[in-house]
Amino acid sequence: MSNLMAIVLAAGKGTRMKSALPKVLHQVGGKSMVQQVLDAAKFAGAVKNVVVIGFGAQSVAEALSGQAEFAVQTEQLGTGHAVMQARQELAGFDGTVMVLCGDTPLLTGELLQMMYNEHCSSQAVATVLTAIMPDPSGYGRVIRNPAGQVVKIVEHKDAGLSELAVSEINTGIYCFEARELLQALEGLTCNNAQGEYYLTDVIAILNSQNHKVWAVTAPDYHETLGINSRAQLAEAERLIRRRTLDKLMENGVTIMDPGSTFIDAQVEIGTDTTIYPFTWIEGCSKIGSNSSIGPNSRIVNTIIGNGATIHFTYAHECMIGEGVTVGPYVHLRPNTEISNGVKIGNFVEVKNTVVGEKSKIPHLSYIGDTDMGAGVNIGSGTITVNYDGKNKHRTTIEDEAFIGCNTNLVAPVTVGRGSYVAAGSTITKNVPPGSLGVARSRQNNIEGWAEKQRR
Ligand code: UD1
Ligand code: CA
Repeated sequence: MSNLMAIVLAAGKGTRMKSALPKVLHQVGGKSMVQQVLDAAKFAGAVKNVVVIGFGAQSVAEALSGQAEFAVQTEQLGTGHAVMQARQELAGFDGTVMVLCGDTPLLTGELLQMMYNEHCSSQAVATVLTAIMPDPSGYGRVIRNPAGQVVKIVEHKDAGLSELAVSEINTGIYCFEARELLQALEGLTCNNAQGEYYLTDVIAILNSQNHKVWAVTAPDYHETLGINSRAQLAEAERLIRRRTLDKLMENGVTIMDPGSTFIDAQVEIGTDTTIYPFTWIEGCSKIGSNSSIGPNSRIVNTIIGNGATIHFTYAHECMIGEGVTVGPYVHLRPNTEISNGVKIGNFVEVKNTVVGEKSKIPHLSYIGDTDMGAGVNIGSGTITVNYDGKNKHRTTIEDEAFIGCNTNLVAPVTVGRGSYVAAGSTITKNVPPGSLGVARSRQNNIEGWAEKQRR
């Protein structure tokens, strides 16, 4: 087990978000930012996690309850001051402390692991994660000596002209040896442009005490981007989404238009499946191989088999088998199980229903609370009348039954195996196997009626 602890700084308000919600609770890629950071820390091996909370402390603590310990910073006097609030947790810890910010949702566990490994092998007392930013403004600059060693970090607001020209920035992510960090924190003052206790000053303090300070540069600066505004939030969302799509494409999935495709990180998709534009696939959905999903579909917590075609469809909490065709304009609601080879299309809603193999519901139907066998044909406009205003009742349609167009099946009712229901019927009694159910008045033709009307 690694002797690694994480402190996540999350007490700031995030003024530029202009939000009642604490900044770190804003969602990116389906999770709050601080959750993304905590997950990365855990991936890197952090066995103890402390989150420093302040603004909206209660809601942050609630969102992370059971996943971390909390230290409260009542006044936001700077990043150094924030770490000091975790003094108690630090004091009892003899190992490495990773300090992270709660507003860097693009951070990966792999990057933290890389930094931690370097920190261990270099035997440094402090390791700073740096990045080369195309636009470093606003960030603290990493100042190295001619030998390339990190001397100090200078905040943008405190930097002179030559320091402002440095494009290597402090990501705000570090590894420290706990004991030396605690000691160095004692030496912090707030004699700077912002009147704050800067955590970054710890680097110069450790250097002056002849401790080894090391730096690791992130290969991709995007991972370390801090989110301060809604525009940056949208950009982070786009980047995280693209990361997921890239992984899927690498694994053999065709995504026709990544710009209009939204897939959650935990979704699994098989090879040679094509995702058409304007498609959302969310939650714990799983899709097989050689399937085609979209355009214009939203799939939530749904399992789809191989060789399925799903277009212009909203499906949630469903199971869809192999070779199934769904769409256009279909709503598959929770607890629906569609067996292999089924066809559902054109303005059909299915809810809490099992549809047996190779059955067809091709047009304009509502099928709810139904157990349908295999090889059934549902005529256009069939409605299961499942609700009496108080209770829901089930409909049973056995194998090979044939339901004529515009039929009402008033539940509870059973249409037997291989039987037929005449078009336009309202079926209130069971139809025995192999028979024809007719429930409509007979047609009566009045001959010569039209001619009489005209006269
Ligand atoms: C900090 C670094 C800067 C670095 C940048 C990277 C310092 C002094 N500066 O600057 O070198 O380039 O991050 O993004 O550390 N926080 C608290 N309590 C406080 C102040 C901050 O919990 O009193 C938390 C914030 O909620 C945030 C994190 O610390 O999650 C960073 O604070 P922020 O004010 O954004 O620091 P920067 O000015 O961006
Ligand atoms: Ca920041």
